[in-house]
Amino acid sequence: MARRILVTGGAGFIGSNFVHYLVANTDDSVTVLDKFTYAGNEASLAGLPEDRVTVVHGDICDAELVDRLIAESDVVVHYAAESHNDNSLHDPRPFLDTNIIGTYTLIEAARRHEKRFHHISTDEVYGDLELDDPERFTDQTPYNPSSPYSSTKAGSDLLVRAWVRSFGLQATISNCSNNYGPRQHVEKFIPRQITNILVGDRPKLYGEGLNVRDWIHADDHSSAVLRIVEAGRIGETYLIGADGERNNKDVLETILELMGQPRDAYEHVVDRPGHDLRYAIDASKLRDELGWAPAYQDFDRGLADTIAWYRENEPWWRPQKDATEAKYREQGQ
Ligand code: NAD
Ligand code: TYD
Repeated sequence: MARRILVTGGAGFIGSNFVHYLVANTDDSVTVLDKFTYAGNEASLAGLPEDRVTVVHGDICDAELVDRLIAESDVVVHYAAESHNDNSLHDPRPFLDTNIIGTYTLIEAARRHEKRFHHISTDEVYGDLELDDPERFTDQTPYNPSSPYSSTKAGSDLLVRAWVRSFGLQATISNCSNNYGPRQHVEKFIPRQITNILVGDRPKLYGEGLNVRDWIHADDHSSAVLRIVEAGRIGETYLIGADGERNNKDVLETILELMGQPRDAYEHVVDRPGHDLRYAIDASKLRDELGWAPAYQDFDRGLADTIAWYRENEPWWRPQKDATEAKYREQGQ
């Protein structure tokens, strides 16, 4: 039976990819609740069928609005967040408001209306690993966040867990690794470098670029979330990852090569304070219990598709580019 799904943050990168995924793969109707901060983009929802997708401009901290929208939905999938580490180091306050108070506002309403709730989170709540550590993150790894971003996401996860235990909230949580794909804001690593090359600027690598991220295509994140919404056990945390560990230098050199540039045509810039060294996900619980597997097995191929998307969609990213680079220049990055 078709469900009514409320997607918070559905005009952002991963949320909009999830909305496209739902429309293509289910009969569900979707309501997007999004504040349209600098990271929300109407164009990310362009072309979706109006009889399936409704867009509401609003804040997840607005208790009255949230109560009404949750009352009208069957399932809530909560993506809305302040999502960028570098921003959180310069102005943490919006991270506390949206990530903590916003999540609290949503789970209170979901509890009142006894609605199924899925909370989207990040592997960054677990802190970082040494480069040679044989262990990867699992749902048993202790929380140890480093930045205002990851600590507010950790706080929001703990609120959801407490609401499950104390109030019987029908919730699941997923912690995913770094996403790439279409419609990602140009402040983030991969689209920043691709669009720098497209505008004739040199890419910018923080420090030596030896930091490792575990990359997953946004579509694979979406398929995993849908699987958890449909078959996940209430109260459980599922880690989502696609065995995509690569260091930043390697990713950047691959982008340069795929775009026909010399592999060393980039600059080293000042490192991020507190920069997490390595993230790595063990997703065997999701794979074994729910039978999920990623569709994108070849990172270079996924990267080439992503580069093609930015080449073909300059009107989508051009308006964000100058302001984003002006902000980075002020920070020496
Ligand atoms: P994004 O910054 O691209 O999008 C966030 C969206 O939330 C934007 O559309 C923004 O307008 C909206 N928003 C912000 N504050 C709001 C508020 N108060 N009320 C309503 N809407 C608000 O972020 P993203 O990269 O798509 O991340 C989405 C979620 O996935 C976040 O919860 C993030 O922590 C999580 N996540 C991201 C990654 C990643 O690699 N980007 C990895 C794992 C988990
Ligand atoms: P980012 O996309 O901000 O994601 P996260 O901080 O959540 O991992 O950054 C990914 C990695 O790329 C991270 O190690 C920081 C690094 N980085 C650069 O080297 N240069 C850049 O211009 C940016 C934005 C990030």
